[in-house]
Amino acid sequence: MLKNLDPASSKVTDTTSTHDITGIVSARATLEDGSVLAYVQSPGEAAIPIHVAKTDAAKVVVRNELTLSGKLGEGPLGFGVLKAREGSVSLNATNRAFGASEPRGASFFKDALPLANRYVQLTNVAFTAPRFDGSGKAVVRGDSGEVTLFLPRTLKDREVPSGSVNVFGIPIKVNGEWQLMASRFLSASNKVSIALASKHTCMTCHNPDMKAVGPAFRDVAARYKDASDARAILMVQVMNGGAGKWGTVPMPALGSKIPATDRDLLIDWVFSYRWDAILSE
Ligand code: HEC
Repeated sequence: MLKNLDPASSKVTDTTSTHDITGIVSARATLEDGSVLAYVQSPGEAAIPIHVAKTDAAKVVVRNELTLSGKLGEGPLGFGVLKAREGSVSLNATNRAFGASEPRGASFFKDALPLANRYVQLTNVAFTAPRFDGSGKAVVRGDSGEVTLFLPRTLKDREVPSGSVNVFGIPIKVNGEWQLMASRFLSASNKVSIALASKHTCMTCHNPDMKAVGPAFRDVAARYKDASDARAILMVQVMNGGAGKWGTVPMPALGSKIPATDRDLLIDWVFSYRWDAILSE
């Protein structure tokens, strides 16, 4: 599909045909003018770059499945994109899965063309500044070099994730430099946290990305992303359980069965999924 959007040449040949596409948003960034540059894909396939006007921007959230219509043309960064006709973007579903990421180190980004338009995971990097500055960029450093992240302009003054981080997103070429359009930040120890959550039975009712018996952790974290007492709220739930915030099914009280250090680690881990929502602002 859309073979005339070749990431190697980035030139668009056909600008007159109308294309209708359905896909899941795997990365997105709000630009200076409020419009959104994003990638949509079907599970496991290469993603298609789209450019969406400000009026439709709110629907373009990572893991939303969209249907939209538009023509190919030169996008805001110079490479070819599908320009969504205003009003043509419709939301089919939220929290959809779009396939696994390809793990790569920082040196890969010297020339990321082999994975252009693919969902990748930049592993084991650390941020080089303490806060985001609203420039739409941030630099991360790994063992094998530095990578510039392409970020929403709305990301400003927030503290960066601490420690060793894996950054998920789509490689894009900006002014001749390969950058990573980031759609998720997770601690490099995320697998350890999942194992801990399994040990303490959280995973029998929860999934980070999908609603199960309990809510998806990315939805929980999104709800409290700006709350100064978010960790305390989540801790009360783990200690005492409860019902009524996400539905009628109750969560049992688990606090007394879990050591305090593990509870803190679990809360930090659940709350780390807030970056999904922050990067979709
Ligand atoms: C038996 C099923 C079950 C287990 C086990 C379980 N949960 Fe839950 N959890 C739920 C349900 C159901 C809800 C939604 C409750 C509601 O609507 O208020 C929930 C809600 C939550 C919330 C949202 C709280 C809020 O304020 O919005 C958090 C955080 C959470 N669970 C964390 C955990 C953690 C961490 C564990 C493991 C220690 C765990 N859960 C184990 C079923 C479960």
